[in-house]
Amino acid sequence: MNIRQETKNDFNAVFEVNKLAFGQDSEANLVELLRQSEAFIPQLSLVATLGNKIVGHILFTKIQIINDDKSETDSLALAPMAVRPEFQNKGIGGQLIKHGLDKARELQHKSVIVLGHEHYYPKFGFIPAEKYYIKSPYEVPTNVFMALELVTDGLKNTNGLVKYPQEFDTV
Ligand SMILES: CC(C)(COP(=O)(O)OP(=O)(O)OC[C@H]1O[C@@H](n2cnc3c(N)ncnc32)[C@H](O)[C@@H]1OP(=O)(O)O)[C@@H](O)C(=O)NCCC(=O)NCCS
Repeated sequence: MNIRQETKNDFNAVFEVNKLAFGQDSEANLVELLRQSEAFIPQLSLVATLGNKIVGHILFTKIQIINDDKSETDSLALAPMAVRPEFQNKGIGGQLIKHGLDKARELQHKSVIVLGHEHYYPKFGFIPAEKYYIKSPYEVPTNVFMALELVTDGLKNTNGLVKYPQEFDTV
């Protein structure tokens, strides 16, 4: 398996991976919208390939944390991520996360926020975001809304509400 940055030629396959993994078009459409948005970081739209086949995709986009004193802290949202159903539970998702986190660190990003499976993301160091006094704009159980510091103190002095790109409102 190989992991690399997505290219234009991958767009259709990435749509398909997301559609198949989620069993609906919403997340696949979200990826297409985010690609056109200011939140998009091309180096953090990654595909997992087996031979010529795209079997997984992960996307990290720019978000802000609006602190209680109205200052803003830049962060990243991990969303969405998808692995073709027939290739799930083989570690591909985990490799995509690790690769993405390394790349994000290399690009000097300081933290990542994820809304997702409470038993999956902690394996990669995510902890409930409430430990950093970070809140979700969506009404979700606190343990599914998680954060990770990519560098020491990456979320120091941060406390507030995450602002996602408006494209997320479509999901
Ligand atoms: C989530 C997903 C990307 C993981 O990819 P993967 O290649 O299967 O991941 P890995 O093989 O690295 O890890 C599999 C682990 O994910 C867990 N997992 C997968 N889907 C899960 C779900 N819906 N709820 C809880 N855990 C889930 C498995 O239990 C397994 O845990 P284990 O390692 O303790 O056995 C993939 O299952 C997928 O595309 N799911 C559908 C889309 C989705 O839910 N995306 C995430 C949105 S937050």
